[in-house]
Amino acid sequence: MSALIHDTSAPKASWIVYSDGDFKKLDEVNFYTNNQALNYGTGVFEGIRAYWSSSSSQLNLFRVEEHYVRLIESAKALKIDLGLTINDLVEITIELIKINNFKQDIYIRPMALKKSLMPGEKFGVKLSGVSSTLCINAMPMGQYVNSLGINCLLSSWQRVSKEAIPSYAKITGLYVNSALAYEEAREEGFDDAIMLNSQGDCTEATTSNVFIVSNDTVKTPPPSAGLLNGITRQSVFELCSYLGISCIESNLNKQDLLAADECFLTGTGVEILPVIGLNQKKFGDSAGRMTTKISELYDDIKKNRVSSFSHWITPVY
Ligand SMILES: Cc1ncc(COP(=O)(O)O)c(C=O)c1O
Repeated sequence: MSALIHDTSAPKASWIVYSDGDFKKLDEVNFYTNNQALNYGTGVFEGIRAYWSSSSSQLNLFRVEEHYVRLIESAKALKIDLGLTINDLVEITIELIKINNFKQDIYIRPMALKKSLMPGEKFGVKLSGVSSTLCINAMPMGQYVNSLGINCLLSSWQRVSKEAIPSYAKITGLYVNSALAYEEAREEGFDDAIMLNSQGDCTEATTSNVFIVSNDTVKTPPPSAGLLNGITRQSVFELCSYLGISCIESNLNKQDLLAADECFLTGTGVEILPVIGLNQKKFGDSAGRMTTKISELYDDIKKNRVSSFSHWITPVY
């Protein structure tokens, strides 16, 4: 069943990263063992993709501004003031890519981390009185999942509720929940996990949002279920509207998921990923009809081939 393709390429020490206001080699970045984010999970991050177009010899950042709007919002949740505007962040990212001279599909990972206690601050788990730092890594990354479709397990792990940790923010510590669910799924022979909330309603997969198709209507759980309102998720609403497909938010329980005609995941990393099986239920051998339509349009948009969506693209070179 294992359909995930793992990129095992190790980061290269010669790659240049942005850290603490400077561009440096990856092996020149130091984190101390008392780093607060390392100890307590008090960091926030983003995942951004840029796609190389060989026809125009251009590297196109995809929805980069939306990702930095979210990074700033996530940072505020942990009392981190980046002191940078969205434009500043986009400019730093473009500079970083140019320095590395990447001319292929890449993935950008900005992280804002709580760093160390300010002078005079007492030891403890806290947010105020702690310094912070911003790092941005960029690395080559193509498709890392099998786009033909994956099999998911309905996890026995519940999604951390938004009343416990705000789900609008991409907080590093929250991902322990995803890692546990992912491991359980892998141990049982599945590729990824979908988690429910305490009411038994669907939230999201470990690093992506969940959609189903039922009677020609595309449905996805609302953010109030306790999920990250993914940028790809939001894109799917616009894609459906462009394609004339009805797309609604609706709470979905286990029975709704298992009775669906199609199911797919969305995320910057996985893009539009068909789910061909859920627990013992089989949706099909490959992507369903609606999933294929949405996925094909997404592919065209990310390659900047659809003029009405060109505002989602920011060229690097
Ligand atoms: C938990 C979780 N849900 C959903 C998503 C999808 O979000 P996006 O489409 O903004 O990448 C991600 C990926 O960032 C995620 O980690």
